Amino acid sequence: MRVRARLGEPLDDVVDLLGGRVRAHHDQQFWGSRHGHGTQDTFGRAMRIFSGIQPSGDPHIGNYSGGFRQYAQTQEQGEAFFCIVDLHAITIQHDPAALRDGTLDITAMLFATGLDPDRSTVFVQSHVTAHAEAAWLLSSVTSYGQLGRMTQFKERAAEEEFVSAAVFTYPVLMAGDILLYQTDIVPIGDDQRQHLELTRDVAQRFNSRYGETFVIPDAVFPETGGRVMNLQEPAVKMSKSRGAESGTVLMLDPPETVRKKVKTAVTDSGTDVRYDPDEKPGISNLIELLTVVTGNSIQDVEARYDGSGYGQFKSDVADAIVEVLEPIQVRYRGLRDDPAELMRLLTVGAEKARAVSAPTLAAMYERLGFTRP
Ligand code: TYM
Repeated sequence: MRVRARLGEPLDDVVDLLGGRVRAHHDQQFWGSRHGHGTQDTFGRAMRIFSGIQPSGDPHIGNYSGGFRQYAQTQEQGEAFFCIVDLHAITIQHDPAALRDGTLDITAMLFATGLDPDRSTVFVQSHVTAHAEAAWLLSSVTSYGQLGRMTQFKERAAEEEFVSAAVFTYPVLMAGDILLYQTDIVPIGDDQRQHLELTRDVAQRFNSRYGETFVIPDAVFPETGGRVMNLQEPAVKMSKSRGAESGTVLMLDPPETVRKKVKTAVTDSGTDVRYDPDEKPGISNLIELLTVVTGNSIQDVEARYDGSGYGQFKSDVADAIVEVLEPIQVRYRGLRDDPAELMRLLTVGAEKARAVSAPTLAAMYERLGFTRP
């Protein structure tokens, strides 16, 4: 196969290898909006959706907002891949037993929150070795300086006594996850924005050095609730590993715990339920949470609680969260009780993911000049 590395030249060999996706995508830039064609692109190919979630720590309502609910929605739009990113989970010191359990916990939660195994490919990152390989190859086109500017890296580096090289290179692994699937859209929360920008930079650099190989992905953020904050510390993002536990609403919290956490959420000294993240960060966070679990707009919420004070508002927020979580928890328990079935679904997912990622990995090796057996 002849390798042509000049940008703009049709790359028939790689395009053949990838089933025409890169070429089709490239052409569409000239045809107008690539998302204007509903669930398919100009050439009748399904939109590719990819996202990932770590199997470490207990998932919370922030993950629901930026992650789970967006996954369930976007799976309707095309061919979707959702990855349990266990390789990412070892970037900070971890407990191997917790990782083992956490992997099946998150698998059950993905299905409990609405992923349909007949529609979406759900798989574990380490089951598809292409991810680790892609990360190494892509590290050659990733800027050391840009990695050092990643907010999540800087936070970890400031906090942890031992800062692993993996915490630093983590975004390269994430870029590989996304690019291996010729992904069009990546549903994520706001905290992943910078990583997605890096992914796009890495893809563009590879494409311009070695020829069109990757689709350049777009991030999809929720309209509201892109960054759910800790209820006790409204300046701190709700997170699996940071911030007050009493301000973190877990997906598996029983109703009375949810009610207690919402009731004791920090608010300001005023009384009006008004959306103003700078002046009223606590109340604004609760307003966003209510929009996330009810689908109402911020304006609807403000109008409804005009003049009614915080008490009723908080109690309604808690009820609305409980109403969303309860059926999820019931489904979760049923699914988690059958680990053999979860493993079966993951095995099917890994087979599909291997088959779909293999041509892109092969194209990467080929373009970089590696001899293949
Ligand atoms: P992770 O596991 O930390 O979080 C999973 C998803 O939940 C979102 N999220 C939030 N959204 C709103 N408010 C919050 N407080 C909040 N906390 C978390 C995250 O934005 C994410 O969408 N690096 C990723 C995992 C990953 C990935 C990928 C994602 C690895 N490879 C490829 C997309 C594509 C992470 O650590 O997510």
